[in-house]
Amino acid sequence: MKSKFFTLLFGLFIIPSVIGWADQGHQITGYIAQKLLNPEVANRVAKIIQEPAYHGQLTDLAPWADYAKYPWSKELHFANTHDNPPDTCHVDYDHDCLGDRCVMGAIVNYTRRLDCGSDLDAFQRDEALKFLTHFMGDITQPLHVSGKMGGVRTKARFKKNKRTTLHIVWDLLILKKRTREDFHDDFKLYAEFLLDKIRNEYAHEVGSWYACNVNDLPGLLKCVLPWSVESNAMNCEFVWHYSEDEALEDRYYQESKPIVDKSLAEAGYRLARLLNELLSKSGC
Ligand SMILES: *[C@@H]1O[C@H](CO)[C@@H](O)[C@H](O)[C@H]1NC(C)=O
Ligand SMILES: [Zn+2]
Repeated sequence: MKSKFFTLLFGLFIIPSVIGWADQGHQITGYIAQKLLNPEVANRVAKIIQEPAYHGQLTDLAPWADYAKYPWSKELHFANTHDNPPDTCHVDYDHDCLGDRCVMGAIVNYTRRLDCGSDLDAFQRDEALKFLTHFMGDITQPLHVSGKMGGVRTKARFKKNKRTTLHIVWDLLILKKRTREDFHDDFKLYAEFLLDKIRNEYAHEVGSWYACNVNDLPGLLKCVLPWSVESNAMNCEFVWHYSEDEALEDRYYQESKPIVDKSLAEAGYRLARLLNELLSKSGC
């Protein structure tokens, strides 16, 4: 384990917002998933997690991959699709995920590595769980499955007189405002609110959020691809429809709320289902 000091120092200089939902978004999906784990699976998860600071839970390890010091993992947080939002949106796995090096390929990779049938050591399984937890969040951020480089260079304003990028609006600013205004700046309250939606408002549809068969690990991509297609479609339906000098904190923010809520809920729900099935297989 590297020293905490280094992680802390590193965390101060990196800008997490360019590479995923910001910490809060990932913590929310980790928190939701943790609450939906079966008790035996929660025990297995706690045994896999090596770093004591995470208290054997997914919540605080979920942002880890944004701080991982591996250059090779940077491209695993997203998929640059070859489309042109908001006019055209599509995902073409072979073209957009060369050598499986994108968020869809990474989810498949780390699910297989976490599987009890794999003979990886404790360090690698811990790493697989951390990457998987993180990427399950990233894949529901529409701009992580987008053309035009996910909006990292696309101008936008959240407040009228402050320039930013579309990507930062989605990684960070919408979430920050939502948590501050509606949940006393406490991401756990936001996560609890979403858990409640999963049990009520979303209950009729959650079944359709997840269609994986963990006994068919080679076929895993079949269940992951639709998640990327769903996120990607959001870019044409909503994300890229705005004007550069509009203050996105107004109308756009209001309309983005249900999309962000559902994305975070889906990420947490799917992660829990996946882990519940994967880590309760015989041989675990
Ligand atoms: C799969 O995981 C290994 C171990 O972390 C890593 O070296 C490799 O780049 C990963 N590939 C993908 C596509 O995620
Ligand atoms: Zn990320």
